[in-house]
Amino acid sequence: SSTCGRDADGALEVGGVSVTTLAEEVGTPAFVLDEDDFRERARAFRDAFTSAFAPHAGADVYYAGKAFLCGAVARWVDEDGLGLDVCTGGELAVALRAGFPTERMALHGNNKSDREIARALEAGVGRIVIDSLAEVRQAARVASELGVSAHVMLRVTTGVEAHTHEFIATAHEDQKFGLSITSGDAMTAVREVLASPELDLVGLHSHIGSQIFDVGGFEVAARRVLDLVAQVREELGHTIEHLDLGGGFGVMYNTQHTPSTPEALASGIAGIIEKECHELELEVPHVAFEPGRAIAGPSTQTLYTVGTVKDVRLGGPHHRVYVSVDGGMSDNVRTALYDADYSCLLAGRVSDAQPEVVRVVGKHCESGDIVVKDEYLPADVQRGDLVSVPVTGAYCYSLASNYNHVPRPPVVAVKDGRWRTLVRRESEEDLLALDVG
Ligand code: LLP
Repeated sequence: SSTCGRDADGALEVGGVSVTTLAEEVGTPAFVLDEDDFRERARAFRDAFTSAFAPHAGADVYYAGKAFLCGAVARWVDEDGLGLDVCTGGELAVALRAGFPTERMALHGNNKSDREIARALEAGVGRIVIDSLAEVRQAARVASELGVSAHVMLRVTTGVEAHTHEFIATAHEDQKFGLSITSGDAMTAVREVLASPELDLVGLHSHIGSQIFDVGGFEVAARRVLDLVAQVREELGHTIEHLDLGGGFGVMYNTQHTPSTPEALASGIAGIIEKECHELELEVPHVAFEPGRAIAGPSTQTLYTVGTVKDVRLGGPHHRVYVSVDGGMSDNVRTALYDADYSCLLAGRVSDAQPEVVRVVGKHCESGDIVVKDEYLPADVQRGDLVSVPVTGAYCYSLASNYNHVPRPPVVAVKDGRWRTLVRRESEEDLLALDVG
């Protein structure tokens, strides 16, 4: 991140705080979040999309809280002028407690409970993103029970399967999210919402995937959604005013990833939407995007302490060095779950020892407990060394578990040479307190 350097002793500094200080005062493992980095990225996305769509009806950026959410993050996102996407009652509760303005919130989810919908309606959440035909009726019923009207978007499935470097059009109907455009369910849902007095149709929503580098996926998705907008205008005489194209912008986990800048993404996507709208003779709708990973991911690194270092002989000249750290798949399951490709570095000191390829593993009871598959560390890496794994701000804490009864690490924010706790370390008492049988 922008504020990383080394102090006089060779220890990594982040936000002006050395990792040695953090390890002493906070302990390890710990998520270290660079506050300025997070907020600069949030504002960069906001600015890029609002200016790219300023000639039209404008744009909003909602931070996707599933990437990482706590009270402080909700307050930053609010102060920086973004909206907030939540997808469960729990995320909603964090946002409400932080005082996040509810009209700038969106509630997602493919299986919302009546309680979640009611809570969002009572709080005045700006958009409830409806995911199925059953949910059109559910939202109408809950709204009518409360005597309020619900502002809803319909999440449609565009048939775009987005991957890191490719996308396969029409291949992705077989998944749980959204209302299929192809099958006609999306159109049926539009008709039903328009016919429900309790429901106010804000617009259409589409989300094609995550860790995407190719804007081609957004091009196909935008075209399909705009075709539906045109169809709705033609058949029902109704103008859809808002389009939400979801999140998914990729970040750099290793040198093979080359993410675009927010400006390049925004102007690329704006160009695509302008062209499609022109062809369909539509006004460019107001648009929204929901980046999570691209804002939170690069802001954070995980700091671990090395324990056992084991050189495993594999026959002949082959061997692999396993460097075990004091966390693992309970604080970062992404390597085990998605074969994610993290990197790491010796954080507490510099070494002129020969670099060697090592595998960084955790302390959990299974061999798939890998944090970093292959990375160079100095050959003298040893017990007590601090190792940092960058770009762990998205879907690491939020996917964390207590596997093997390992308490979850804290999240600390660093800024201007100081640190403060955002989420405290879980204690053994926290874990034992749940066990009441
Ligand atoms: N909006 C919707 C409706 C979403 O479902 C998601 C992510 C986002 C926005 C944010 O996407 P992002 O900009 O963060 O890519 N656990 C997986 C990622 C799951 C993403 C789920 N939806 C991982 O660790 O890679």
